[in-house]
Amino acid sequence: METNSLNTLPQIKAKPILPFGTIIQANENGQLTDLSIKDLTEIIHQEKVVLLKGFRPMESNNMLNYAKRWGDLLEWNFGHILNLEIKENANNYLFTKGNVPFHWDGAFANSVPSFLFFQCLKANINTHGGESTFCDTQKVLEKASPQELKLWKSITITYSTEKNAHYGGKITQNLVHFDEHLGKDVIRFAEPLNEESVQLNPIQIEISGFSTNEQNNFLKSFIPKLYESDVCYQHRWETGDYLLIDNLSLLHGRNPLKDNIDRYLQRIHIL
Ligand SMILES: [Fe+2]
Repeated sequence: METNSLNTLPQIKAKPILPFGTIIQANENGQLTDLSIKDLTEIIHQEKVVLLKGFRPMESNNMLNYAKRWGDLLEWNFGHILNLEIKENANNYLFTKGNVPFHWDGAFANSVPSFLFFQCLKANINTHGGESTFCDTQKVLEKASPQELKLWKSITITYSTEKNAHYGGKITQNLVHFDEHLGKDVIRFAEPLNEESVQLNPIQIEISGFSTNEQNNFLKSFIPKLYESDVCYQHRWETGDYLLIDNLSLLHGRNPLKDNIDRYLQRIHIL
């Protein structure tokens, strides 16, 4: 099964991922620069997740130069490339073995990136744990009952966190957000840390007008909907994978790591 836009890339073998996304397999010695960025952009808008396998790895500088072809990049205090690996003496849960609950990137930045671009430099495909999780929030909204939608559209959440890592501050965000780039409603939500998380640098959340009990009850009923199998893709990394994802439609997170703590990813935010 191929999408229309993939037909414009006749040299590429592509197949769907369940419950959403597409795998593009490189020809021998394939490079990402062989693919049209315009076509890839169209595919990401349709499929939300594009997994590129078998393409040549890129040194950091080449990865950065490649990402710049897509557009402006979000720059952080560490530069453009975030090295995602376990750190001894981590001061933020991202760099621990614990899970990373669902969130969207750029919540505390001036701009929300359109795409996240990952390269996997090291992973052990035979070991469970450390899978990246992606929730298609447009599907969650499509599945919601009219009563749920009415409630969700009335909810505004204030998030606050100390800036111990590269992000932090205080923001207020509607749970259902009309995204002008997509011309569609999406969910913007950052899930609180839970029992699978290492409690370092947590984000505090406060739903406007809700008592503590009401907030807890809402979170208990809402969060599992983001993990239902028809809206959530869990990606088990293999060394050499590239992943391009739509950060506007999706929330993302990570399962806790187990025996595969030498997992090493790089990530760039494309605006
Ligand atoms: Fe993230």
